[in-house]
Amino acid sequence: MASFGFGDMIAKLKADPKVIVFTEGTDPRILEAASRLLAGYFLKPILLGNPAEIEKAAEDNGHNIRGAEMIDPANYDRMDEMVAEFCELRKKKGVTEEEARKTLSQSNYFGTMLVKMGVADALLGGATYSTADTVRPALQLLKTKPGNSIVSSCFILVRPAATGDNEVMAMADCAINIDPTEDELVEICGETVECAKIFGVDPQVAFLSYSTLGSGKGEAVDKMRNAAKKAKAKYPEVPIDGELQFDAAVAPRVARTKCQGSPVAGHANTFIFPDINAGNIGYKIAQRMGNFDAYGPILLGLNGSVNDLSRGCNALEVYSMAIITAALA
Ligand SMILES: CC(C)(COP(=O)(O)OP(=O)(O)OC[C@H]1O[C@@H](n2cnc3c(N)ncnc32)[C@H](O)[C@@H]1OP(=O)(O)O)[C@@H](O)C(=O)NCCC(=O)NCCS
Repeated sequence: MASFGFGDMIAKLKADPKVIVFTEGTDPRILEAASRLLAGYFLKPILLGNPAEIEKAAEDNGHNIRGAEMIDPANYDRMDEMVAEFCELRKKKGVTEEEARKTLSQSNYFGTMLVKMGVADALLGGATYSTADTVRPALQLLKTKPGNSIVSSCFILVRPAATGDNEVMAMADCAINIDPTEDELVEICGETVECAKIFGVDPQVAFLSYSTLGSGKGEAVDKMRNAAKKAKAKYPEVPIDGELQFDAAVAPRVARTKCQGSPVAGHANTFIFPDINAGNIGYKIAQRMGNFDAYGPILLGLNGSVNDLSRGCNALEVYSMAIITAALA
């Protein structure tokens, strides 16, 4: 149990307001969230797109976006500077000025460069772009944080309780790395633990598998067992165990039968999945059948604050992810 709410993040942003760029400035869900953010005065939205089209979309959908900054990639006064910086960043790929201009006419790349240039503190995209098209510019231009070898992601799952003592869990990597290696899983674990703490979770980490401590066999089992062992050595202060089946990880009765003495079995709250198939399916089961609200994917290990929306998102999810993305900036 943990008491995650947005109050702390909003208070942090009120003390230090941030600028967030939305790549899809004419999308009605973005406009609704932007209108709500503008009314709150703790986050300054930049909407990308043609200002006349943005204003028309806002009016057609009944959203008041007075005070929002609008930037049109087709008419940006610092474009030459942006193109030069882009060419420098992609120098080893031999990008020409013409190619850079064409790429930067797309708002996913243009918005990411606004973060790189310090015009915005954070970026939220993906209302219409796919995950790959939102994340790729960030991987190419912002790159990994010093000391990290990969960008990964986690979801924070929250099941609201009437008492206010919400159930909060972290799941990773459900969205970026398709088949992480043992060492990548260790890095994903370290990043997810830090992210989970921000959301009030006291991390108890389970490396998940179809096997519990040797009950099943196979390469995928070995991968999770070895990764758990390496993670325990690297983060001795964090309770970690694996490989564990999901029931052993969360159900005390099953844990007593299958793995008595495990430091986390029966009460794990931070789950490391073997690959993106398991992770993506797993968080969606919790969301759709377990009544958990899912926040994410929250990108981890990136040298900048960029997040991706699900194309099926609603305005409330855009609003929540904007707060999370800016608060993590
Ligand atoms: C994230 C993802 C888009 C990157 O794929 P991609 O763009 O085809 O990747 P590429 O191999 O062409 O790499 C592009 C750049 O990103 C970098 N990169 C790729 N994956 C990376 C990672 N996990 N961490 C850090 N950098 C990464 C590459 O090094 C490369 O950099 P460079 O251009 O400077 O050399 C890909 O891993 C993917 O599609 N993941 C699944 C996304 C998805 O569908 N999720 C489910 C829905 S939520």
